[in-house]
Amino acid sequence: MSAKKSTKTKKPGLLISFEGSEGSGKTTQIELLAPRLKKLGREVIVTREPGGSPLGEEIRHLLIRANGSEEMFPETELLLFAASRAQLVRQVLVPNLREGRIVLCDRFLDSTTVYQGAGRTLSPDPVNQINQFAVGDVLPDLTIVLDVPAEVSVQRVQNRASDLPDRIERENIDFYRIVREGYLLLAKSMPHRFHVVDGTKPPSVTEKEVWKAVKRLIADAGNA
Ligand code: TMP
Repeated sequence: MSAKKSTKTKKPGLLISFEGSEGSGKTTQIELLAPRLKKLGREVIVTREPGGSPLGEEIRHLLIRANGSEEMFPETELLLFAASRAQLVRQVLVPNLREGRIVLCDRFLDSTTVYQGAGRTLSPDPVNQINQFAVGDVLPDLTIVLDVPAEVSVQRVQNRASDLPDRIERENIDFYRIVREGYLLLAKSMPHRFHVVDGTKPPSVTEKEVWKAVKRLIADAGNA
């Protein structure tokens, strides 16, 4: 993105997004990656979507935890995710990338393409336009997709001891299948940005795969 070219002396900021269906292990992989990058002497910011800013976290609550009697329409859902993203981009991503930091984002615009586009069957044109409006010219330098079969997602959500499933996690297995296929199709259409990693392996094995892709990105960006 343009923000990372702001000075000649600084290492460029990099935006790495993590995507995948529920229980794919994104959050664990981000927690493993951040210290590795810090060991390289890089400043790292970890954030998430929806959320990542105070306003975004309020929107997250509306989107995920709201259990009201009122139905949330797919169009409303799309716009709320986009609103959280628009805030995150301007408040968190752009300033940190400008400072040369590496931002690890737990979900970004591809979640909308897959969940609201493929999952909720909203037409691709408005989804893409709204995504673009929200992010401006801020696109991930690398997107890691943690790929797990729908059955594994459902099982992992059920096994989570901490919480009751949220509004989206309560979807049926077919929705999870559509989400998985959506990610694989998207990754195929943009191989330069996406890297698909098997999310069914133990986290320590998956981590090595993720690290290979990130090291390559850093080397390609000329700031190893
Ligand atoms: P998380 O639990 O991985 O943080 O994600 C929150 C939920 O929100 C997850 O079920 C996926 C969903 N989601 C969308 O449907 N569209 C989006 O654009 C984003 C960012 C998340």
